[in-house]
Amino acid sequence: MTDDKVIVTMLSDLKHRVFPRPFERLGVTGRGLVGVEIGVHKGEHAESLLSYLDIKTLYLVDPYALYAEYEESRSHYGDDDSLDLAKAEAMGRLAPNAGKISWVFKRSVDAATEIPDGIDFVYVDGDHEESSVRADIASFYPKVRSGGVIGGHDFYNGFTRQHDGVVRAVSQFAVRNDVTLQVELPDWWIQKP
Ligand SMILES: C[S@@+](CC[C@H](N)C(=O)[O-])C[C@H]1O[C@@H](n2cnc3c(N)ncnc32)[C@H](O)[C@@H]1O
Repeated sequence: MTDDKVIVTMLSDLKHRVFPRPFERLGVTGRGLVGVEIGVHKGEHAESLLSYLDIKTLYLVDPYALYAEYEESRSHYGDDDSLDLAKAEAMGRLAPNAGKISWVFKRSVDAATEIPDGIDFVYVDGDHEESSVRADIASFYPKVRSGGVIGGHDFYNGFTRQHDGVVRAVSQFAVRNDVTLQVELPDWWIQKP
């Protein structure tokens, strides 16, 4: 492999396969936590949240379906069969935590009404389009208690511009709301004042 390819592969591994991620290592503390993951896919990060944090309830939000506005989906997942397989894998992986998880098989903005107020954290990793990330933050930030944390994956757009939407939506939210944005590759998070 050329140097560039080696570096890109290493960074991709860091981005996707190294657990625990900075969000759970550095962003969230406390006991008996109630939180949400938006975008669960195979459940790898949900498993990390459940094993690293002291969680009472983790709401797992994912429609496991392709939809018209979800532009990155065809290149990422190809067809609904691949998402069906991911769903089955996630349900199997997370089954040992059955007492701590609550599945919501809906799109994030439709799922928000099923999430209680005053939660401890939200991790945003669904549709990475700028408008979708903005909508996720707008729908879920009000659910987070003061001192709780909203964050997510893929604050990262150097060698591939794939996640410009995350960087733009999150940065704009932080500046407009005068809150401190913390970033540790590949995660971002904001503690609600
Ligand atoms: C990058 S994967 C999530 C990976 C997972 N967070 C992890 O790190 O293990 C993105 C997932 O988001 C889901 N998704 C897409 N649009 C969504 C939406 N509007 N609300 C919730 N989940 C969504 C997809 O079905 C897919 O499973």
